[in-house]
Amino acid sequence: MPCRVPRLCLLRLFLLLGLLRASGAESSSHLLAPKDVMIYSYNFHSVLRWSPVKVDRGLVLYTVHFKTGAFNHWDEMNCTRIAQTECRLPWSLKERRWTVVLRVRAELGHVTSDWVETDPFVAERNTTIGPPKVNSVIVSSDSLLISVTSPFGSEAGDFLQYHVSYWENTTSTTKKETKTSNTLFKIRNLKELTLYCFRIQVELITYSDFQLLGLQSVPECYRTTMSEATRAGYSILVLLLGLLFVSLVAVGLLLLWKYHKTIKYCSQPPLEIPSHFEEYLKDPSMPVLEGLDNYAEDDPHDSLSVVSCGEGSQACGSSLDGRAHHSQSICSGSEVT
Ligand SMILES: *[C@@H]1O[C@H](CO)[C@@H](O)[C@H](O)[C@H]1NC(C)=O
Ligand SMILES: *[C@@H]1O[C@H](CO)[C@@H](O)[C@H](O)[C@H]1NC(C)=O
Ligand SMILES: *[C@@H]1O[C@H](CO)[C@@H](O)[C@H](O)[C@H]1NC(C)=O
Repeated sequence: MPCRVPRLCLLRLFLLLGLLRASGAESSSHLLAPKDVMIYSYNFHSVLRWSPVKVDRGLVLYTVHFKTGAFNHWDEMNCTRIAQTECRLPWSLKERRWTVVLRVRAELGHVTSDWVETDPFVAERNTTIGPPKVNSVIVSSDSLLISVTSPFGSEAGDFLQYHVSYWENTTSTTKKETKTSNTLFKIRNLKELTLYCFRIQVELITYSDFQLLGLQSVPECYRTTMSEATRAGYSILVLLLGLLFVSLVAVGLLLLWKYHKTIKYCSQPPLEIPSHFEEYLKDPSMPVLEGLDNYAEDDPHDSLSVVSCGEGSQACGSSLDGRAHHSQSICSGSEVT
């Protein structure tokens, strides 16, 4: 655009700038107010937060005021002309019951925005109570002894209740619940050697009879131990099994000693396919296996296996489970072949 007269040019420039500013966050007379003004409160630690107001140039500062339900009068907090977009509420314990309203505005030089007010805030109603801290769990065969700490400092007049929900960690989870006001308590009547899980939440009951339920703790799981009775039972069982094993071994050794000569006689093993198997493989119509089957059925209970023997080397040791007193005849090779 051609521009010959300097004054007009300047005017045009100002107009342009004015338009730009008006379309931006701030106007010459007005600043946009903070948005998303919210009080976040967790375990009675409360903080007011808002979104920053963006301008082209300069540093936007913020001022926060409060008033209580009792005195309808705005007062300064410790957050006057601050650059941060949050303001901590200084009262955490004493004034938990007060109804408080906060307001915040943006400021840029002498230009200020409108105030933005919060909803009425009562800490003991609006705060989020976190899960209690589980300090220790002592496991026994039929109970869990649990020690917890309250997530926030209690005040006189508070009544805290711990809601404990617990369940067996199986597929069909039927939860049970118990309430207690002690920080050390027992979950009773549990099955032994069973995995149990529990979660705990705090309920705050205030003197004005308002109830605030806190968040649940993450589940913790513990396996109950073995009871004394079961342990004794197991001990006896183990003892009996041990005795049985020892006597079996003794009997085995006795048998071994008794027939040890026969075994020695029949144990010079040339490793080869017994000749009747060879014959059977050549001519399966031969009734060798039948005889073998019958023979195996005769005495299945002794597994001294005599594979073969040296004497008369061509047809002996055919039985896979020859009983010791049969071995004489097996060795001679007369019965099976
Ligand atoms: C304001 O905050 C400052 C620092 O954060 C602190 O030293 C001061 O005591 C506070 N004043 C009030 C009245 O809370
Ligand atoms: C506090 O809780 C009340 C009732 O639940 C709700 O109406 C109010 O908006 C909450 N206040 C704040 C600041 O969130
Ligand atoms: C509890 O059981 C669920 C499935 O039934 C399984 O995924 C989970 O690992 C178990 N918890 C523990 C601690 O063993």
